[in-house]
Amino acid sequence: MSQNNQFIMALDQGTTSSRAIIFDKNGHIMAIAQKDFEQIFPHTGWVEHDPKEIWSTQATVATEAITKANISPHQIAGIGITNQRETTILWDRNTSEPLYNAIVWQDRRTSAYCNELKEKGHVNLVSEKTGLVIDAYFSATKIKWILDNVEGAREKADRGEVCFGTVDSWLIWKMTGGKEHLTDITNASRTMVFNIHERCWDEDLLTLFEIPASILPEVRSSSEVYCTTSGNLLSAKIPIAGIAGDQQAALFGQLCTRPGMAKTTYGTGCFLVMNTGDKPVKSRNKLLTTIAWQIGDKVDYALEGSVFIGGAAIQWLRDGVSIIKDASDSKEMAAGLKDNDGVYFVPALTGLGAPYWDQDARGTFFGITRGTTRAHMVRAALEAIAYQVYDVLKAMEKDAGEATEEMRVDGGAAANDFLMQFQADLSRCVIKRPQITETTALGAAYLAGLAVGYWNSEEEIRNLWKADKTFEPKADEHEINRLLHFWHKAVERTLNWLT
Ligand code: G3P
Repeated sequence: MSQNNQFIMALDQGTTSSRAIIFDKNGHIMAIAQKDFEQIFPHTGWVEHDPKEIWSTQATVATEAITKANISPHQIAGIGITNQRETTILWDRNTSEPLYNAIVWQDRRTSAYCNELKEKGHVNLVSEKTGLVIDAYFSATKIKWILDNVEGAREKADRGEVCFGTVDSWLIWKMTGGKEHLTDITNASRTMVFNIHERCWDEDLLTLFEIPASILPEVRSSSEVYCTTSGNLLSAKIPIAGIAGDQQAALFGQLCTRPGMAKTTYGTGCFLVMNTGDKPVKSRNKLLTTIAWQIGDKVDYALEGSVFIGGAAIQWLRDGVSIIKDASDSKEMAAGLKDNDGVYFVPALTGLGAPYWDQDARGTFFGITRGTTRAHMVRAALEAIAYQVYDVLKAMEKDAGEATEEMRVDGGAAANDFLMQFQADLSRCVIKRPQITETTALGAAYLAGLAVGYWNSEEEIRNLWKADKTFEPKADEHEINRLLHFWHKAVERTLNWLT
């Protein structure tokens, strides 16, 4: 079949929705299908998903996207998978039944255990081997929690009857009818039991977290033909040829393929990731060292600053406290005010991630007066997204030893011009938004397309990146410093709230 009649499908399994996007050779979107699924909050600080719903929504949108694009499944040259990272699923190897709900990356149930590990002096061991900080965010303590708390789980695991996977592994397991148990190196690098230097599961860490090696998936590169779908996803045998965690996929989709290039994705959380080339750079400023991707034998590394609550702050204003009806109202409400009138919101709704890493911080509004309106609260929430990204950017600049001149942006909230201009003003760097902002899915599509020869080289896809809008810093520096002063004062008062 001619490549003109062929397409690549990306499955983008995110924190709040499952999506399928079909791309053509120019990286243009042919069709998108999306389905939200239930967020389960069994206790304060706990966040779960139903693994079966993750699969059913993902399978549904894959079919829908094919129908919308008006093509046959046989025209899909390859599938790329990208996913919410760290989220942990354990299932029965024989029956494929999940042992427990997926414990989501935002879940804080293992925070106390993480604090214990820090007190016992394991910080260096973990950071040296994995590039991560000890935090409930990563998969290891979530795996241990399921093994320790679900009746019979540990015994079953000891008998070799349990599989662990991040969401990519779970999808591949389902797409191959339970034949393939694998993951890619980017997802492995977020588990806290993967050695990013030796590129293998780490025995010392498996012992520390009491995780049996038998439950682990095989770790593969980010771009290769792993297997084909078995027919329970679409009616054709389609090669699954690319996998990357969503932030790494976005870095690739933004073509940040050279050292020093950086992107921020404004999704549920905000994730600033900078390519550091073939060397892992150890952060001195509480950022994470992580694997960007592996193509062939070549591994690229990255520095990452993960902000837990980004767009989720706006979702909370809408769903949690009904301050707005629609997330899109936030732009007009915020831009309609002449300034923030001294109102700040620290959205530490699940603690604070980089660069603070405070599991005990909690969300707080500051500076409220009789004159404060809903619009001020909305503006404070939007500004908070940019302040948090600013803090991470400054930490990254210290690690890199130079100022960032340009940052590429994507994700839902990157469409908000008010927020992007404010980000440029705060960060004193140029913000570039690409024409195709579905960069997470695009990155997964590129990884798959390269593996099946749909695209021939990185050079070929690099030419497909085009800026849609550029935001230059323009605000008065004195005013920006004043805002940052109050933001940092607010953060200071939020830290260690629970202790
Ligand atoms: O590390 C968590 C991240 O992968 C989740 O991304 O886009 O689902 O909020 P997102």
